Amino acid sequence: MAFETIIVDVEDHIALIRLNRPDALNALNAELLSELVEALKDAQTNEKVRCIVVTGSEKAFAAGADIKMMSEKSFVDVFTEDLFTPESHEIGRIRKPIIAAVSGYALGGGCELAMMCDFIICSDTAKFGQPEINLGVMAGLGGTQRLTRAVGKAKSMDMNLTGRFMDAEEAERAGLVSRVVPGKELMKEAMSAASKIAEKSMITVMAIKEATNRSFEMTLNEGLLFERRVFHSLFATEDQKEGMAAFSEKRQPQFRDK
Ligand code: HXC
Repeated sequence: MAFETIIVDVEDHIALIRLNRPDALNALNAELLSELVEALKDAQTNEKVRCIVVTGSEKAFAAGADIKMMSEKSFVDVFTEDLFTPESHEIGRIRKPIIAAVSGYALGGGCELAMMCDFIICSDTAKFGQPEINLGVMAGLGGTQRLTRAVGKAKSMDMNLTGRFMDAEEAERAGLVSRVVPGKELMKEAMSAASKIAEKSMITVMAIKEATNRSFEMTLNEGLLFERRVFHSLFATEDQKEGMAAFSEKRQPQFRDK
């Protein structure tokens, strides 16, 4: 499938999706988001794909929603079309793991898109921010919600109210990203993390993603119960028998997603 605003490569069980609107620093418009959703759904149904990596360019993961596309819209327009909400729900429904590999700017909707992924690996050039306040608006795809859960109220308020950018080191300290690497190493690091995940049983991978995401929706006790029941259910899989047998036999497990 040929896309206009993204480039997709599937190799070695990994779907690599590159945002590709270089003239606009990968600003998100309707076309890009719908192509991204289509590529993610393709990856979800493609049995060869075991992990997904979403990335941008060296200069920008994505510099936000497309300001030129939004500037003339009215309240009625954005309310009626519920700008980008259906797409963000579709992204949230992808059950395979998604890593965001961020270099350069991840601003506004770009930062929010990175946070919709399961975790973020960034280069030392990365800059995260919710600068919508400078445009007379505010975050609309999770910048006041996911960011607050990721970095806490103090930094989230600071970023959303001042519009300042957070560099890679601060983002790692604050818990927004899982790893920071030199720019040249970014894709190697992200692909190697994806390969590691691709070696595991897909059943356990998807169970872990589901259980971790439930932690944002539930009380601790409900979440612990959910986790325990999913843990119990994994004992119905052949992969649990294989994983534990391989440990005893001091060999690598051969998972078969069964
Ligand atoms: C449209 C954008 C864009 C954006 C950059 N460009 N960001 N176009 N929407 N969000 C375009 C510029 O207009 C310019 O095009 C080209 O990309 C290069 O950008 P420059 O500004 O010339 O580059 P630079 O000087 O290096 O500055 C980089 C930057 C700056 C700091 C990232 O571009 C910037 O501040 N961008 C806007 C960031 C932002 O406010 N994001 C939040 C958007 S609101 P031309 O044609 O002039 O060369 C949002 C809401 C989400 O995300 C919620 C939706 C529901």
